[in-house]
Amino acid sequence: MTLDFARTQSSARLSDSEREAILADPGFGQYFTDHMIQIKWSADQGWHDAALVPYGPIALDPATNSIHYGQSIFEGLKAYRQTDGSIATFRPLENARRFQRSAARLAMPALPEEDFIRAIEILVEVDQAWVPDDIEKALYLRPFMFSTEVGLGVRPGNEYLFLLIASPAGAYFPRGIHPVNVWLSKEYVRAAPGGTGEAKCAGNYAASLIAQAQAIDNGCDQVVWLDAIERYWIEEMGGMNLYFVHGSGDSAHISTPPLTGSLLPGVTRDSLLQVAKDLGYSVAEERINVDQWREGNASGEISEVFACGTAAVITPVGHVKSTDANWTVAGGQTGQVTLELRDQLLQIQHGSIADSHNWMYQLVPPSA
Ligand SMILES: Cc1ncc(COP(=O)(O)O)c(C=O)c1O
Repeated sequence: MTLDFARTQSSARLSDSEREAILADPGFGQYFTDHMIQIKWSADQGWHDAALVPYGPIALDPATNSIHYGQSIFEGLKAYRQTDGSIATFRPLENARRFQRSAARLAMPALPEEDFIRAIEILVEVDQAWVPDDIEKALYLRPFMFSTEVGLGVRPGNEYLFLLIASPAGAYFPRGIHPVNVWLSKEYVRAAPGGTGEAKCAGNYAASLIAQAQAIDNGCDQVVWLDAIERYWIEEMGGMNLYFVHGSGDSAHISTPPLTGSLLPGVTRDSLLQVAKDLGYSVAEERINVDQWREGNASGEISEVFACGTAAVITPVGHVKSTDANWTVAGGQTGQVTLELRDQLLQIQHGSIADSHNWMYQLVPPSA
C-alpha cells in the first residue's frame, strides 16, 4: 500500500524575483526550494507520517545513532524542464532501487520504489517554479535517510527518517565543462572488496575528503580512485564514473571500468553505455590499469577520457598526475566524442530529442 502524504504549505516562500535571482546563477547545492518531504520509519509502525512540509532545520538529540555510527544513505537525481514546458526526471526507478540496495548494505529498511517516486512527484509539483528553463541547469533532488534512534549502542537503528530536499543546480564544477586535472590516489583508497563502495552512504564521502584535499595540494581538481589491493586498476573519479575513448571518429571504441563491487553503479554510466551504442560506437566494460592508460595516451590509442554523473553530466579529463608520472589527455581539450555524448544525453534529458528507451518520467505536465 502506498503512503498518503499530508501537505503543509510554506508561509515563507521566496518571492518570484528572489527565486529568479537564484535561478540565474544557482551554483551547486547552495539554495533550497520552499518545501521538503519527510517520511518516518519505526520497527513497530514501518513507514508512516509521510508529509510535505516547509523546508527547514530538524532537531536531533545529541545521542542520535547515525551521527555517531554513520547509518546514513542518499541519492541524487534531477528534475529537468522539457522543451514543451513540462518537467520530467531521468530513470528515477534506478535511483529508487539503488537507494534500496544502499539501505540493505547498511542494515536499514527499504523504502518502497513507489513511495520514493511519489515523494519526488509531490515535491516537484509544489516547487515547480524552481525548475530552471535552461539546458545547462536543472533542479537537483536529494533523497536521504538516516537512523534517528537515540542511544549509543552499536546496532542497526529502530527508527529512521527519510527526507527529500531540492536545490537548483547549474555547473557542478565552477569552471563549467573545462577539462579537469586528476590525481591518481595511491595512498588512500575509496572502497575495498566486501566494503561499501557500491552503496551511496555518507561514510564513503567522508573517507574520500582527505584524498580530494591531497589532489588539490598537488594542483589537481579531482581524485581518481584505484583498486584497494594492487593500487593499479582504475575505478572512478571523485563522485563520478570514468569512460575511455579509444581511437577516433566513427570507429572509436568506448570503455568504462566494470562494476567490481567497489565502484558506485552510476545511472549516467549505465545510460551512456546505451547512448554510445545508439550513436554507433562499439562499447564495452573493460578493466584498465594505470600503465595502460599512460601508454595508450602516449601512443594516441586512448584519445579522450571523461567522467560522468548526475551532478556534472559529463566532464572531460585534461591532465593526469600521480607521485611518479603525469600526462596530458586530448591535448588538455574537450574531445569530440565527449562533446557528442554530453550533448546527446542533455538533449534526451531535456526532451529535445526522442526518448527511445523511455527513460524520462513526467513529473509535471505542460501547462494547458
Ligand atoms: C562515487 C560516485 N560515483 C559515481 C557517481 C555517478 O552516479 P550517477 O550517474 O548515478 O549520478 C556518483 C554520484 O552519484 C558517485 O557519488
